[in-house]
Amino acid sequence: MKLSGKRIVVGITGGIAAYKTIEFIRLLRKAEADVRVVLTPSAAEFVTPLTLQAISGNAVSQSLLDPQAELAMGHIELAKWADAIVIAPASADFIARFTVGMANDLLSTICLATNAPIFLAPAMNQQMFHQQITQQNLTALQARGIQLIGPNNGVQACGDIGAGRMSEPTEIFAVLSDFFTRDQDLQGVKVVITAGPTREAIDPVRYISNHSSGKMGFAIAENFAKRGAGVTLITGPVTLSTPNNVTRIDVLSAKEMWQAALENAVKNQIFIGCAAVADYRVADIADQKIKKSADEMLLKLVKNPDIIADVGHLTENRPFTVGFAAETQHLSDYAKEKLKRKNLDMVCANDVSEGQVFNADDNALQLFWKEGSKTLSLKSKTELAADLVNEIVERYQKTL
Ligand code: C5P
Repeated sequence: MKLSGKRIVVGITGGIAAYKTIEFIRLLRKAEADVRVVLTPSAAEFVTPLTLQAISGNAVSQSLLDPQAELAMGHIELAKWADAIVIAPASADFIARFTVGMANDLLSTICLATNAPIFLAPAMNQQMFHQQITQQNLTALQARGIQLIGPNNGVQACGDIGAGRMSEPTEIFAVLSDFFTRDQDLQGVKVVITAGPTREAIDPVRYISNHSSGKMGFAIAENFAKRGAGVTLITGPVTLSTPNNVTRIDVLSAKEMWQAALENAVKNQIFIGCAAVADYRVADIADQKIKKSADEMLLKLVKNPDIIADVGHLTENRPFTVGFAAETQHLSDYAKEKLKRKNLDMVCANDVSEGQVFNADDNALQLFWKEGSKTLSLKSKTELAADLVNEIVERYQKTL
C-alpha cells in the first residue's frame, strides 16, 4: 500500500467541512497510515476530540500549552515525526496566519517547525475565498511549495453557490496517495551531499569565503529526497531553506565540514561533494579582533583537508563518490585528472571561463567517469539536478 506506515498529521481548523475530515482520516487508516490529529480551538467546536481519537487511533493534540500532551509528543516532535501534513479544512483565518508565519496555536507552530510537505484543503464562504487578500495568501503559500487541494465549486453550507467547498475526502486522499507513489524509486538509498561555501575565520569578526550559493547542492538534495532517498545535506553558510525530507547539518569551516562528511560518508551509499570548500585556512586565528595598524599585513594560510579525496580513498565502507570541478580551461583533462587523483567514481565539471556559475540559477555540466563522459546542457539548476541524479543513479547501480 502506498500510504502504509506513512506518518500523517491531519490538522483541522474551524469550519463546517470538518465533519468530512473524519471520513478522510478513516480512508487514511484503512490504507494503514499512522495518523495524528491536531485541532485548532475553533475546530473543536465542529468535531469532537473523542470522535477523532476513535477514528485516528491516537490521542488528539489541541494545545501548545498542555504539559500532558507535550509529554506524550511535543509540538516539535510531532513536526519532525510527520511524513506529510494535511490541513483540512483550512480556514481563511488559518491560511492568513500560516502565510505570515504565525505560531500562535499548536497547528501553526507545527507547520512552522516542520520539514514535511504540507497540503492545504481550503474551505470557506465563496466571498471570503475570492477576496484579494485570501488569493494573495494562497499564491504566496504555493510559491513556498505548499500544495493546495481544491476547493471545489458548488452549494455551500451558508447557502451561497461558488468556489470554497472543501474537496471530498476521496479527492484529498487521492492527492496524498499520488504524492507518496510519485517517483519513490530510490527508497532505501542513502545519500550525503556537501553544499555551499566554507568560512575560514581570520579573527572573531572576519573570515575568508567564496560566492557559492549552495543552489546546486540543495537542488540535488531535493531531487534525491523527492525520489525517496534518505538525504543528509552538509552545508556551509547559505540562505536557502532546507528541502523537504532532508536532514541538514550546518557547518562553517572546511575542518568542520570534513568531520561531518567523513562521519557520514561511511554510513551512506552515495557521497556527492558539491561544496566550494576553501583550499586554505588561516594558520593562526586571532583570539581578538585584529587592529588596523601597518599599511600591509600578511596572513599565513595552511592547506585544508581535501574532503572528497579523503572520502574517495576510504578503504572501508567507501560510498560511490561524486565530485565537482570548476575549471576555466582544459576542462576535460583537469576533470579526468581529478577523477583519478581523488579516486572518484564521477566528476561533474563546470566551465566557469565565461559567465557566472556561482550563485547563478542556470548551469551546464560535463560528466566524466572511468569509461565515459556525457554533457548535460544549460538549464535551471533544479532541472539539471534531476538529470544529474539520473546519471549518478545509473552509474551507481552498475556498481551493485
Ligand atoms: O580540487 P578542487 O577544489 O577543484 O575540486 C573540487 C571538488 O573537490 C568538489 O567536489 C569539492 O566539493 C571538493 N573539495 C573538497 N575539499 C576540498 C576542496 C575541494 O571536498 N578541500
